[in-house]
Amino acid sequence: MKELSLNILDIAENSVKAGAANVSLTIRESDTRLTFTVTDDGCGMTADFLARVTDPFCTTRKTRRVGLGLPFLKLMAEQTGGSMAITSRAQTEHPDDHGTTTTAIFCKDHIDCLPLGDIVSTVLTLIQGNPQMNFTFRHELPGGGVVELSTAELRGVLGDGVSLAAPEIILWMREYLTGAYHENQ
Ligand SMILES: Nc1ncnc2c1ncn2[C@@H]1O[C@H](COP(=O)(O)OP(=O)(O)O)[C@@H](O)[C@H]1O
Ligand SMILES: [Mg+2]
Repeated sequence: MKELSLNILDIAENSVKAGAANVSLTIRESDTRLTFTVTDDGCGMTADFLARVTDPFCTTRKTRRVGLGLPFLKLMAEQTGGSMAITSRAQTEHPDDHGTTTTAIFCKDHIDCLPLGDIVSTVLTLIQGNPQMNFTFRHELPGGGVVELSTAELRGVLGDGVSLAAPEIILWMREYLTGAYHENQ
């Protein structure tokens, strides 16, 4: 992978696969560090499974033999002097309060740290592919500015008759996010 936003997409896709109705992505950036957190209310993982999940041979997917998502993210973060952590509550053990939080910290000054890349496209890919999901995005920029988007809020304004996957809505979100990044530069 050539940019962190693709790692972020990969981790958020795990939340989608876990059946989450609510997914939030927060990116906190300083001049030297980038931390991203993906939180979901999906099926979660048991403590036993979680202990094995950064092993590249651990996956519940059946189409490819090895899972690379979480082990790869851990490796990428650690290569920069950062780290990765996951906390999870399995639905089978906590039926009323389950889900997963994955956090990765990258040291931006390290030569092996990839650029964040096209985060706007990552966010739009997630929304377009899962328009019924409540997705919250928040990016705290090094200069103190914040770029935010909430699909629940947007749905409240547009009404239930409009799909967030509609091309004109996706285009509007692209312009909104791009504009917000320009303002905060
Ligand atoms: N957010 C999540 N909620 C529930 N289970 C998860 C989540 N993220 C990862 N997992 C579990 O961990 C496994 C490994 O994930 P990952 O390393 O991304 O590989 P893959 O998604 O290709 O299987 C998944 O197959 C899934 O069972
Ligand atoms: Mg995955």
